[in-house]
Amino acid sequence: MTKQEPLIERVVEEIKSSINEDKYPAVRITKETLVNKYGIEAKDVLNAVSRWKKWKDLKLEVRRFGGYIIFGLPDDIDVARWPGSTYKEKPAKEKKEKKVVYKGKTAKDKNYFKFPEETVVVKGAILARENIFLSGPTGCGKTTMLELLAQMNNVPYIRMNLNGETTVDDFVGVWTLAGKNMEFVDGVLPQAMKSGKMLILDEMDAAQPEILFTLQAVLQSAPLVNTKNGETVSPREGFFVAATANTVGRGDMDGLYAGVRTLNEAFLDRFPYVLRMKYPNKNAEIKILINRCGIKQEYANEIVQLAQAARGALTDGKLYSTFSTRKAINFANAIIKFRDIEIALRVAILDRVSKEDALAIREAAQRIWNI
Ligand SMILES: Nc1ncnc2c1ncn2[C@@H]1O[C@H](COP(=O)(O)OP(=O)(O)OP(=O)(O)O)[C@@H](O)[C@H]1O
Ligand SMILES: [Mg+2]
Repeated sequence: MTKQEPLIERVVEEIKSSINEDKYPAVRITKETLVNKYGIEAKDVLNAVSRWKKWKDLKLEVRRFGGYIIFGLPDDIDVARWPGSTYKEKPAKEKKEKKVVYKGKTAKDKNYFKFPEETVVVKGAILARENIFLSGPTGCGKTTMLELLAQMNNVPYIRMNLNGETTVDDFVGVWTLAGKNMEFVDGVLPQAMKSGKMLILDEMDAAQPEILFTLQAVLQSAPLVNTKNGETVSPREGFFVAATANTVGRGDMDGLYAGVRTLNEAFLDRFPYVLRMKYPNKNAEIKILINRCGIKQEYANEIVQLAQAARGALTDGKLYSTFSTRKAINFANAIIKFRDIEIALRVAILDRVSKEDALAIREAAQRIWNI
């Protein structure tokens, strides 16, 4: 303890008692005042306070700011908020608006695994702005591929899911009340056409017939005659459609996908590219799990082993549910979270399939993990 410390302690106590908590919970004192009025140097005050743990009990923070020493109640030494402060906060950097964001991930999604062959076709269609139709089992990566390749190639898009509940109003537009007047709000189709964007339509085979009918004409670069508001919308350059579906428009062949319709051939003919996607091969899927979930290689291997066994059983007619990459990802995330295969298996896989399927998948899992 230096000779000055009792003095410093007294001074600091005095300053603290002058703090008016309601007005502003800190006071500032110039270095000169400290010397002239109290006979102590600012640096000695700062040193003493930093040494004295007990100031924490006093609930006081002391900081240097320019020519001042600021004494404040913890968390309240905010020089920018000080009345009359000339301190200017640096203006926050303007956030650049990201063009397109996919579930919070931007185009630089390093965790995306590019399927070599499919990428060539999909990228080609996107760059040429030509209609493309991707079919394939649920959760194999159709939507992800379209969105990420669009982002990576700076192609703006609008996405809509055409599941059974999507109405023609959502698709084409609807009259709404704006103040006292009625106003027509464009649906996704005229929006994409007018702005020359790519229109990603998911679950194409679940779309209502009226939606398909409206789309059919437009797919041939014809203008949209919007019967709802009488407007004729010509497609702006850049507009095209990328559709995804679980079935290739031939109806639900294997009973897996409820509510799908048959797409007629004339409709499909309007897509120059139709690509049937499969689940990724073993190595690709292992990589996806490691990259996406950060799971260890050995677990990734085993999860994919289970996925492949389940897919094999589906093909053999021993199982009636799919084991998608999405399920594999959920399973991996659950393993990481719960550190317990049994629980993870249950919440990610078993409790969402039929009892019979759950039993079969559990048996396969037992062979892998001895659970
Ligand atoms: N190549 C890939 N790299 C990394 N993750 C992927 C890849 N493909 C798919 N995924 C992941 O797998 C999951 C399922 O993908 P996605 O939703 O694109 O499937 P889908 O084929 O569109 O399914 P659905 O038919 O049900 O719409 C997503 O979490 C996605 O991020
Ligand atoms: Mg999809």
